[in-house]
Amino acid sequence: MAGKIPERFIDELLNRVDIVDLVGERVQLKRLGGNYQALCPFHNEKTPSFTVSQPKQFYHCFGCGAHGTAIRFLMEYDRMDFRDAVGQLARRIGLEVPEGARAVNVEQHERLYQMLGRAAELYQKWLYDHPSRQCAMRYLKSRGLNAEIATRFGLGFAPPGWDHLARSIPEREDLVAVGLLIQKAGNQPYDRFRDRIMFPIRDRRGRTIGFGGRALGDGNPKYLNSPDSPIFHKGQELYGLDKVLELDRRPAAIVVVEGYMDVVALAQYGLPRVVATLGTATSTLQVERLFRSTRDLIFCFDGDAAGRQAAWRALLSTLPTLREGRQARFLFLPEGEDPDSFVRSKGQEATAAALRDARPLSDFLLEHLALDVDMSTIDGRARLVDEALPLLRRLPADVFRRMLIERLALLVQLEPGYIEACTDAREKPGPKVGAAPRGGKMPMVRRTPVRLALALLLHRPSLAQLVNDVESLRDSAIPGLPLLVQLLELAHLKPHINSPGLLEHYRDSEHEAALWKLATWDHMVPELGMEAEFRGALARVHALLHTKRLQYLNERLQRGELTSAEWREWVSLKQGS
Ligand code: UTP
Ligand code: MN
Repeated sequence: MAGKIPERFIDELLNRVDIVDLVGERVQLKRLGGNYQALCPFHNEKTPSFTVSQPKQFYHCFGCGAHGTAIRFLMEYDRMDFRDAVGQLARRIGLEVPEGARAVNVEQHERLYQMLGRAAELYQKWLYDHPSRQCAMRYLKSRGLNAEIATRFGLGFAPPGWDHLARSIPEREDLVAVGLLIQKAGNQPYDRFRDRIMFPIRDRRGRTIGFGGRALGDGNPKYLNSPDSPIFHKGQELYGLDKVLELDRRPAAIVVVEGYMDVVALAQYGLPRVVATLGTATSTLQVERLFRSTRDLIFCFDGDAAGRQAAWRALLSTLPTLREGRQARFLFLPEGEDPDSFVRSKGQEATAAALRDARPLSDFLLEHLALDVDMSTIDGRARLVDEALPLLRRLPADVFRRMLIERLALLVQLEPGYIEACTDAREKPGPKVGAAPRGGKMPMVRRTPVRLALALLLHRPSLAQLVNDVESLRDSAIPGLPLLVQLLELAHLKPHINSPGLLEHYRDSEHEAALWKLATWDHMVPELGMEAEFRGALARVHALLHTKRLQYLNERLQRGELTSAEWREWVSLKQGS
């Protein structure tokens, strides 16, 4: 969200700048209906899939998925941070960013970076001079780490005890903000990390943003991580990326593993182009970040069920980022091995060779899908196609997708053209209606009344003024309805908000992805029909709520549990239906 710059100001800004001007100054735009098109500035392409919508005031690339408002465009294109982008837009239209807005956050972040750097130095120092360091040293030795590699990765030691850090760094509040101290109501704050080997986690510029702490032995949990903070977001960062880029700004390949220890061990054995996720599933954002630095990603996972599961999730996150010139491959280690144990037992050469032989994503994908279908029956093969179609649709339509379709066709003994047609066919007839036929790359959204209402509201927030009984829509059992209620309330609160303003409001929230999907979905409702469609969608939502409530009351009635108030409600609902 907008941080310390008042949201009102952001809304005002987005209301007054025109994204088409802004983008047009940097990218060659061509007019196409109500939209503008261009070759995407965020990835290499030969046919334009980047569109800028004037009515909606945002950009979206159907190739790489880049999207955003004017603010985001400046952030990405001119590599600015949020505040600078807001500042620049404000200058364009002669507004001044409200006083104080700048100082507070930047200053806080700066302080947090500095403090985490100081904490990292302290942990590192304690590994060499704290009275209880022996255990830590012995542990590192038992894991086969040498001093040189420990120094390179800045490994440290959080001694046993509750207040080493608390006593060494005076800024309590900041320590709590980054999770190095834990503050429970009424108690003295205490050190989060105790008696652990400390792995500083750094951003791509090498600034410490958090820590992973490993127990010395069988402690529980094995790894403790810093919680997310204003400067640390686990789903976005990659452990070791700073080290990789320090060595080589554009490595031919980057290996992705699961553990900090794996990164460090591989580096010690001369395989330094390795990063790890931070104990969370690999996200599309992480993959996209990596693909900005390399063309070849090698995911290296354990060979057990958990490793396969993690790999599948990584595959799903990778699909939307794939396009010509990028490849993702998978290496599964033998059961019971992880990269750390593998490189230590097999050595550098054998590990490098295994990585070179990692199998293409398409192999893994088809193999995984075929896993629990019976390929000897037509039914089984049809199921395989069914399961593959949604995945194929996630892929940009290019060489890779065509190749995958050909391989799938071979496997199921169907014509590639048939499968191609299925992937392009937007949806089966019936209640599902997909996106417009043009381009064939828009997000697929199943049309429900709630989704349609959301999409229309995102398109034209003033539609909210048609709804004056938001209360009656409160029902958390209907998917998406609580979000619709939120949007309606927001739009009531800010009658002048426009669609990028709404989207900007949800930046970095759990709903961001869903809202973008709906905002970019071509709902095919013409401008003139929007009001009627919106009313219609809401009426269908009300009908649904009505039916559900009646069902509930009927059940209570049959069990003889109706209160008198419910009885009156039941009667009036009956009359209404
Ligand atoms: P693993 O359990 O595979 O650990 O977790 P590892 O890297 O092989 O560690 P060693 O070799 O036993 O020391 C992989 C990653 O999952 C996260 C950490 O990021 C770890 O590096 N993790 C694991 C946690 O966050 N917490 C845990 O308790 C365990
Ligand atoms: Mn391990």
